[in-house]
Amino acid sequence: MKKIIALILVAVMLTLTFTSCGVKGKTLAEVKEAGKLVVATSPDFPPFEEMEGDEVVGIEVEILKLICKELGVELVIETMDFDSVLSGVQSAKYDCGMSGITVTPDRQKNMLFTDAYYVAAQVIVVKEDSTIAGKADLKGKKVSVQTGTTADEGCTDAGLDVQAFAANADAKAALTTGKVDAWVVDNLTALQMVEEGDGLKILDEYMTEEPYGFAFAFGSEDLVEEINKILNKLIEDGTVQKIFDDFGEVYVKPE
Ligand code: ARG
Repeated sequence: MKKIIALILVAVMLTLTFTSCGVKGKTLAEVKEAGKLVVATSPDFPPFEEMEGDEVVGIEVEILKLICKELGVELVIETMDFDSVLSGVQSAKYDCGMSGITVTPDRQKNMLFTDAYYVAAQVIVVKEDSTIAGKADLKGKKVSVQTGTTADEGCTDAGLDVQAFAANADAKAALTTGKVDAWVVDNLTALQMVEEGDGLKILDEYMTEEPYGFAFAFGSEDLVEEINKILNKLIEDGTVQKIFDDFGEVYVKPE
């Protein structure tokens, strides 16, 4: 009996060791050895990442292309819903998360982030004829968000009546079709998607301001350190500013 218990214990310990090894993010040497950086993204977030035919394009794609060039590896992009980006990076299924990801203290408990490269804001989008004029008017109103985003967390924490959608376009459609009274989303994405012209407007009052970074699994500390060096150089020498200019966007540099 004792032997069996001992065997079971050994088996459990071995499984734990192997699974915890399995969820470690790649080191710099491992990425270089693989010759590629596998990046997870939810390409429904213009101007940061969106589909153009079957290609993912956007500001973050341009930044990561330059980072991969410096690292001497190929940039390989995998597309999925936003919440799968976060869970996939955390479990080291992918090397990196690129999705206009806000760096938050809660997320930092579960994964690594590069330094921030941009400061975004969460905005409230409503129909042009809406009487909602700011945050305070959202009480008791139905609000759409993308699942797992900071908009989802923030609006849920504020006790709002939240409807979450896996795809950003569906969160917007919920507003245009009148299923909800407001849509909370990041500012530059809101600007682009409102320009598509569906009788929507963006309110002046921000919900929050938040920094964007790229996400990695624990274990990738030296990789993140190397990427930070490259990223900060691209920020300091004006390359990131130039990329925003090329996309016709205003660049807000982190302090
Ligand atoms: N910045 C927000 C967050 O991190 C929203 C990001 C949504 N990104 C996307 N590619 N759909 O939660």
